Amino acid sequence: MFRTNTCGELRISNVGSTVILAGWVQRIRKMGGMTFVDLRDRYGITQLVFNSDVNADLHEAANHLGREFVIQVTGTVAERSSKNSNIPTGDIEIIASDLKVLNRSDVPPFTIEDETDGGDDLRMRYRYLDLRRGSVRRNLELRHRMAFEIRRYLDSKGFLEVETPVLIKSTPEGARDFVVPSRMNPGEFYALPQSPQTFKQLLMVSGFDRYFQIVKCFRDEDLRADRQPEFTQIDCEMSFVEQEDVLQMFEGLVKHIFKYVKDIDFTEPFPRMTWADAMRLYGSDKPDTRFGMEFVELKDLTVGKGFSVMDDAEYVGAIVAPGCADYTRKQLDQLTDFVKRSQIGAKGMMWVKFEADGSVKSSVSKFYGEDELRAWGERGNAKPGDLMLILCGQTMRTRKQLCELRLEMGSRLGLRDPQNFSCLWVVDFPLFEWDDETQRYYAMHHPFTSPNPEDIDKLDSDTGAVRATAYDMVVNGNELGGGSIRIHDAKLQDKMFRLLGLSEEDAQYKFGFLMNAFKFGAPPHGGLAFGFDRFVSILAGLDSIRDVIAFPKNNSGRDTMIDAPSRIDDSQLQELCIDVVLPEEK
Ligand code: AMO
Repeated sequence: MFRTNTCGELRISNVGSTVILAGWVQRIRKMGGMTFVDLRDRYGITQLVFNSDVNADLHEAANHLGREFVIQVTGTVAERSSKNSNIPTGDIEIIASDLKVLNRSDVPPFTIEDETDGGDDLRMRYRYLDLRRGSVRRNLELRHRMAFEIRRYLDSKGFLEVETPVLIKSTPEGARDFVVPSRMNPGEFYALPQSPQTFKQLLMVSGFDRYFQIVKCFRDEDLRADRQPEFTQIDCEMSFVEQEDVLQMFEGLVKHIFKYVKDIDFTEPFPRMTWADAMRLYGSDKPDTRFGMEFVELKDLTVGKGFSVMDDAEYVGAIVAPGCADYTRKQLDQLTDFVKRSQIGAKGMMWVKFEADGSVKSSVSKFYGEDELRAWGERGNAKPGDLMLILCGQTMRTRKQLCELRLEMGSRLGLRDPQNFSCLWVVDFPLFEWDDETQRYYAMHHPFTSPNPEDIDKLDSDTGAVRATAYDMVVNGNELGGGSIRIHDAKLQDKMFRLLGLSEEDAQYKFGFLMNAFKFGAPPHGGLAFGFDRFVSILAGLDSIRDVIAFPKNNSGRDTMIDAPSRIDDSQLQELCIDVVLPEEK
């Protein structure tokens, strides 16, 4: 037997047993005639003792071990004299009687401990060592557990997991495609799926009724903490459903995961908010509802007092930060600098302090009297001791800026505890988004999303106001997932393509297969997809999805461990009939 037990398994009840363990040397402590070695595997850490009085040769051999050597040790389980209550095996140690070095190791480039001295780049280059750290391994254990519970829930509801192809035709969904040249079809390319959207719809046409897939998706877009070029979706689709059926089913899934993975019971239905309300109250389609501080609109109360900044603004909005009236000049200046940063881009910030003693102070008291400032406070429900922060300008832009300010204040006030989970559905998204640059409409979700039946007559006359039957699941200010009821009528789908500026030929070339399928009895259907990496990182309380992906890419889309992407041989290029023309270096 290679090993009798794992390194996380032995307890006081095992004292006296002879055991064989195998694993990595985590730490070595030499104390006179005794050498202590912490032996680590996936399951835990066990202390080994090498005593020169008992076996001098073995003690000598132990003194030559190095960090991350792989060893096999035989010994007897003994009770420790000084116990370590921090680890489950802390009551015992192994008095070694035999030691075999299975493999030596170079000195690792960073310490393999939960708190490591390795920087991000170094850890990514040696990700296989990083993955030995308990904190990283636990994220992948959580990921496995969640995938398992997702399958258990969806299986119990009759969903079938069906794999869809990875080499497909480009089905644009907002991002750029990654493309793959075809050797057998020179000059032609596959695209990697941004999602299996069209395939799951085809599976509904095929009568599969309930489909899901935990599936890799690929998008060539700018990366952020919650975005990777390849990521995983929990992709789902159902037939013969309305929006309400879909929301119920997947609210059930989210609740199941919280219950069986985090032991958190959500007994109430998740709140629902229209997109219009989310934008009005939080300036975001993914509001963080762990705390209030909703926007207060002040335009009507601020006009006509001779302050041109407010008068000229399309929108004046404020938030009320509870208990912050004692903010110092310096703190207010810091906040002003925060909103003026280029990523946020506000011109300035105004404030009103509703002091605890009942007095009112403001950065704009030159233009507004105390009664007027009090009226603002009343609208915002400000209490003595509260601070009102005000931004103004073009509506959408200012709402976005105020959203950032609200999140910043939420963080400063400790209202964004990662272990406090606030879930909601955002519904009634607009169907289209206007793009000034290209002067055309884009699908806000994707081109297969059904318009809200109440708004169909506005498709031509008031295109921008048409609502979609689309919904997002939002958790703690993150878009966890989104979906829609689909168009299942070939004519309406065709009209949709036309509104999106696709000619009949274009639509036929890109989506002919789907339009044709719709001619053969497509059932009404709808679904959604959750971002699995985001789901795991939210439950783990982490900011970046990189920490829950075994081998992630860096912010430039590189895997620095395997050094990809990389050039390929000229012979490979020739075979693919590809000429590489690099842009001239400036
Ligand atoms: P959508 O584009 O909203 O919808 O994607 C669904 C969810 O996938 C996650 N996600 C990402 N996660 C990590 N990195 C990325 N680059 C990334 N992009 C998206 C988000 C998002 O909510 N086919 C539709 C779904 C449907 O209509 O059924 C779709 O892909 O959590």
